[in-house]
Amino acid sequence: MSGKLKPDIGKIVRYGPSRLYCPHLDRDDIQETDVLVLGSGAAGLMAALNAAEVCRVTVVSKGPLDEGNTAYAQGGIAGVFSESDSLEKHISDTVEGGYGLCREEVVRKVVSEGPELIRRLFEMGARFDRDEDGRLTLTREGGHHERRVLHALGDRTGREMERALGEAVKGSPSVRVMENTFAIDLLVDGDACMGALVMTPERRFRIVSARAVVIATGGLCQVYRETSNPETATGDGLAMAYRAGARVEDLEFVQFHPTTLYLAGAPRFLITEATRGEGALLLNVHHERFMPRYHPMAELAPRDVVSRAMLEEQKRTGSSTIYLDLRHLGAEKVRKRFPQITAVLKSYGLDVGTDLVPVCPSAHYAIGGVKVDLGARTTIGRLYACGEAAATGFHGANRLGSNSLLESIVFGATAGANAAAEALSAPHPEHPRLLGVCESGEKVDSAFPDVEIDVTDARNSLKALMWRSAGIIRDGAGLEEALSRIKFWARYLIYRRFTSPDGWELQNMLTVSRLIVDAALMRTESRGVHFRSEYQKTDPDWERHIYMER
Ligand code: FUM
Repeated sequence: MSGKLKPDIGKIVRYGPSRLYCPHLDRDDIQETDVLVLGSGAAGLMAALNAAEVCRVTVVSKGPLDEGNTAYAQGGIAGVFSESDSLEKHISDTVEGGYGLCREEVVRKVVSEGPELIRRLFEMGARFDRDEDGRLTLTREGGHHERRVLHALGDRTGREMERALGEAVKGSPSVRVMENTFAIDLLVDGDACMGALVMTPERRFRIVSARAVVIATGGLCQVYRETSNPETATGDGLAMAYRAGARVEDLEFVQFHPTTLYLAGAPRFLITEATRGEGALLLNVHHERFMPRYHPMAELAPRDVVSRAMLEEQKRTGSSTIYLDLRHLGAEKVRKRFPQITAVLKSYGLDVGTDLVPVCPSAHYAIGGVKVDLGARTTIGRLYACGEAAATGFHGANRLGSNSLLESIVFGATAGANAAAEALSAPHPEHPRLLGVCESGEKVDSAFPDVEIDVTDARNSLKALMWRSAGIIRDGAGLEEALSRIKFWARYLIYRRFTSPDGWELQNMLTVSRLIVDAALMRTESRGVHFRSEYQKTDPDWERHIYMER
């Protein structure tokens, strides 16, 4: 808990330029708004709705509005709704799950403000599952000692939240949405964020000038070869905030989810932990159940424990095959409770009633991000962050399932309200000054400007390296190797002047990977989701957060 936490420890890491692209633009290329929200997951949309109550808002979404990371969340959103539950119990479970690194005041805020915001989702029309008497059907996930996980349309919780929030945003006359628009860099003057440089779907550069900016760009797990995250989760917001000088924190804590679909050629589709909550079992290649040998909670042990047990079992049996077995649950029940999973498996010829489902662990959630305080403020003036892109200290060193959607709506609402309040009292950035800031910045031409780059190949090499060296089990030698490769690739990639989103995404992924590896090297212990094979014990001296800045 915060009272006992040791002082944070920081490191200066200089990687790449402070800006990726510095075009020459004129006044016609500037669009003005009061609050600019980057990202359209639950956090971004909640921020936009709150800010729009008092000012003009622009939402920049990398893809279609409803394709944020949130849409891929299946299991649910945690909140105190049952009579046997209490805020204190939810706080205590969250803190216990965080391995000593939760910030108590943040946990208190999220858990106590969350239920009211979930009720706001009900009012927006989000269809959470209820029994015949209209009572919410609450389930349990690992680490929650009470039934407090609300779910919607079975296993489509995130998508349903996105639908309801997206419709509310589209219906708001104060919100302008820019879809399929790539945010390249923040424009920071002195200590104040003035907006962002973006590329529109027509490939035009634009400055969105703002009196306050909210980063809600989601996660970064695309830096790993195996991930449950969509293609868009490339850590753009984190990378641009770091380039602009913001403090980032807790990056060594990447959570790996034990069960993603593992079929050659199929996307790594998440199979919710709620399946194991309902009784699904993990089997090795010989169809033997193995989790009881690894942990008393068996399949419902913490995610890091299950993921490591799966690796161990793969090693022991000499086969990468691990199955999720849902057959004994009854095909009808599974179809009803997990309609999306049933349909996806069916599309690959798998029947949940008769077939075993091949699964593997994959990178699922970045606990770290842009450091924010209780008000969602970053270390840069007029810049806020929320959702997976932010590091609030809510999850500590491990995250309980379904706690992140809760954190997203709470910190999204806070970021929106505070950004709007600040925007109302801040002047609009002056156009000449803004254009000057946009054009300035470090030289980004590399020493090898003409060499041909296969961006997909570079991206895949990085993902393979991160999976191998900074994945579920890490060691100093592997991390050092990753660091030296990432530094080497920087020579011809990080200062290169790319002109399209795939190149900038690659640069963002390199930046984020560098920061993850640096943090993982610094933390010479195992804690929560961070496991070092040569330091397997938790060290009380490391009961502290690691931050980095340029
Ligand atoms: O397994 C799941 O449904 C994941 C939930 C979460 O990460 O919160």
